[in-house]
Amino acid sequence: MPKPKRHILICTNTRPPGHPRGSCGEKRSPELLMNFMMEIENKGLFQEAIVTGTQCIGPCGMGPIVVVYPEAVWYRGVTGEDVAEIVQSHIVDGKPVERLVMPEEVWG
Ligand code: FES
Repeated sequence: MPKPKRHILICTNTRPPGHPRGSCGEKRSPELLMNFMMEIENKGLFQEAIVTGTQCIGPCGMGPIVVVYPEAVWYRGVTGEDVAEIVQSHIVDGKPVERLVMPEEVWG
């Protein structure tokens, strides 16, 4: 198996409805994980990226959270409709989808 150039992490952590922190899972991130896996598979991009579901990685209220390494680009509020654009623009063309990138102020 060739070493993938990028790693796409998708938070699939789920908390109970009404939990004060919310969660990516309650915003359908497990389905989003499958969307990314299918997009990579359908386009035959196994050398370009590997897709992994994770537990909570921090900014829960802005989820679903998707992170792409090695650039450490954090996407927020990602939906299934964004998957093809992220894969084509970021994974294939090397250009992050700016409209979905988490604002720098979050890290203050
Ligand atoms: S639940 Fe997804 S970042 Fe916390």
